[in-house]
Amino acid sequence: MEHAASPTPDGAEDQASPSTIVDTEAAARAARVTFRVQSNPRQFQHVLTVANQKGGVGKSTTAINLGAYLALAGARILVIDLDPQGNATTGLGLDHRHLEHSVYDVLTGDIEAEAAVRTTMVTNLDVLPSTIDLAGAEVELVSAISRESRLQRALSEVRPTYDTILIDCPPSLGLLTVNALAAADELLIPIQCEYYALEGLGQLLRNVDLVRANLNPQLSIGGILLTMYDGRTRLAEQVVQEVRKHFSDVVYQTVVPRSVRLSEAPGYGMPIALYDPLSRGGIAYRDLALEFAARTGLLASTTEGVR
Ligand SMILES: Nc1ncnc2c1ncn2[C@@H]1O[C@H](COP(=O)(O)OP(=O)(O)O)[C@@H](O)[C@H]1O
Ligand SMILES: [Mg+2]
Repeated sequence: MEHAASPTPDGAEDQASPSTIVDTEAAARAARVTFRVQSNPRQFQHVLTVANQKGGVGKSTTAINLGAYLALAGARILVIDLDPQGNATTGLGLDHRHLEHSVYDVLTGDIEAEAAVRTTMVTNLDVLPSTIDLAGAEVELVSAISRESRLQRALSEVRPTYDTILIDCPPSLGLLTVNALAAADELLIPIQCEYYALEGLGQLLRNVDLVRANLNPQLSIGGILLTMYDGRTRLAEQVVQEVRKHFSDVVYQTVVPRSVRLSEAPGYGMPIALYDPLSRGGIAYRDLALEFAARTGLLASTTEGVR
């Protein structure tokens, strides 16, 4: 198999940040990223929370890969891993065992967000990592002052450094997800094209209303992303139709297919854009990045410099 970059799992670094940095232009060409985004944080800074209290619907995969494609298109991206399981952290090539600081220390107020941010293999793609400590935060923060707005406050400093900040949520509607919603401009909800796809969605949307009313009036539903689509089943097609009927334009045109490559990539600490950009999953996330950039006004109006 051809890789744009070819570190192996055994080559995984013993440090907090990966030492291999890919040639962004070459990687963008290999991944057929032909669009550019305008990098102008003052104007376009945008915080996107990826949430759904169901586990395994593609939240972390979406945060990693949407982030990586936008970075390859020229955007400055920060992925915040707000899940104690740390899938976005490891999926972006960081090893939690070697992290001095994490988003946990930021939420407790011990350090500034900037001090915990790490670089990744892709220039312009940073991560605010998670460690298992974060599992305690739900409980520890319960009696803390302004416990729901901790992340929102912590981000005010780093916001201007990035065009888009993507927050990957844990599979629950607890305090961590509430912090992510309070800090966000918009919510992206991945939905798996399976039975019970819409189960729990009403509860998530009620939480969004509560956060809007009490913490963050500007929070909008930025989009619904259909994931793990299996074209061989009629069920997948039925789910797509049902979701589009209910939510019409909010649903992204791009549908992410079920793709083994997407599930392999995190094991190598690589986004799909580096692991196998021309796989169907890779192409889908590239298309999603383009659609997202167009929707949010991040897409450069000129195609100058695009090959
Ligand atoms: N489109 C896809 N096709 C195949 N496997 C996928 C796809 N998206 C995600 N996966 C895999 O499914 C599992 C759950 O995805 P993940 O993004 O971790 O979900 P969540 O963050 O919502 O729990 C992971 O092992 C991931 O690699
Ligand atoms: Mg996850």
